[in-house]
Amino acid sequence: MYMDKCINAHDTLIGSRGAPVSVAGLRKNFKKFAALDDLSFDVKPGKITALLGPSGCGKTTALRCIAGLEVPDDGEIKIGNTVVTSISKGTLLPPNKRNLGMVFQSYAIWPHMTVGQNVGYPLKVRGRKGSDIERQVEETLSLVGLGGYSTRPAGKLSGGQQQRVALARAIIARPSVILFDEPLSNLDAKLRARMRFELLRLQREVGITSVFVTHDQAEAMAIADELIVMNRGRIEQRGDARSIYMEPASEFVADFIGVSNALEAIVVQSSSEAGITTVRLSDNPDITIKSRARCKLIEGQRCQAFVRPESLRLSSAQTTPAYDDNILEVTVLATQYLGNTIEVEVRLGNSELRLALEPHHHLAQGDRLHLRMAAHDCILLEGASR
Ligand SMILES: Nc1ncnc2c1ncn2[C@@H]1O[C@H](COP(=O)(O)OP(=O)(O)OP(=O)(O)O)[C@@H](O)[C@H]1O
Ligand SMILES: [Mg+2]
Repeated sequence: MYMDKCINAHDTLIGSRGAPVSVAGLRKNFKKFAALDDLSFDVKPGKITALLGPSGCGKTTALRCIAGLEVPDDGEIKIGNTVVTSISKGTLLPPNKRNLGMVFQSYAIWPHMTVGQNVGYPLKVRGRKGSDIERQVEETLSLVGLGGYSTRPAGKLSGGQQQRVALARAIIARPSVILFDEPLSNLDAKLRARMRFELLRLQREVGITSVFVTHDQAEAMAIADELIVMNRGRIEQRGDARSIYMEPASEFVADFIGVSNALEAIVVQSSSEAGITTVRLSDNPDITIKSRARCKLIEGQRCQAFVRPESLRLSSAQTTPAYDDNILEVTVLATQYLGNTIEVEVRLGNSELRLALEPHHHLAQGDRLHLRMAAHDCILLEGASR
């Protein structure tokens, strides 16, 4: 399908390891549905960029466009200095000319072949000598922790081992970019957490630019140098894990990344710039709190206050609040002891809040306590819809 559009195509990418990727104005409609809606981003060379977002937000479609497996309706994609897709210029390099490695959720290895035949396949199709292939297969298998597995039947390996074979096959030809689509989601939780570390180590070692698609925010935060949070085919926010978590730019991001308490509020007193702003809680008109506005908000404006469970503290003693602290009376509704933390639900007037406290706290249902919430930790965003 793409071959007939394949004009101006370069013979092959003069790819070096760690090429940058740039995606500009990508659009893809399935019938009337916009899976990608003017998507633009770039991926820094040698870094891991995660495309993160809920199911159906367009992550796989974006990745398939980069791979050349999907033809966008509009937009341009560059890998290194090579335009691999350009709808306006009529350029569409086929997938095997893009110098990419790919690792998908289903391991997509050939079970009837040995591990070595699987891993060496990309070199074989490039016409490399048998002895070269053998040497490089052994080297690459060691890199992914499967040294000595070359002659084993691939279909007899465990899920985690099969995914390592897929990974070895993706990196053996030293592509300039690797595309990962939920590569760890078929693995059990423990193995998945371990594979995150291994992937990261491997990526640092080989330095190949990586685009990593996942809907798991913890995975994205753990592994990526930069996160791109997507929603409905568009970018909501991009940044490193810390800034996305601590400084969500929209209600969607605050809600999607981690756990947030959200309180509807109305601005009582705004600051001159984005900064400490006093709001009244919509469900509790007699409670005002000082919060940190992410944008300029004016008096009377409706907004949402977001605060993370781990930013909240409880104390039994009444203390005088510092200038930028909120001390609020709450009642404990429920507690869950989880070993490394206690999750607590409290009632604040007509609202409920979740807290994550250190496990040494002893709390009982019905305890009346003082909740401490620093204004800095309570982020105000525009809008009141949820
Ligand atoms: N070939 C297709 N035909 C019709 N609709 C499609 C096709 N491929 C994707 N879509 C639709 O486009 C949207 C984006 O799909 P995509 O697979 O990119 O989502 P995703 O973010 O990868 O989701 P998930 O996390 O579930 O894998 C979805 O609504 C999906 O149903
Ligand atoms: Mg997908």
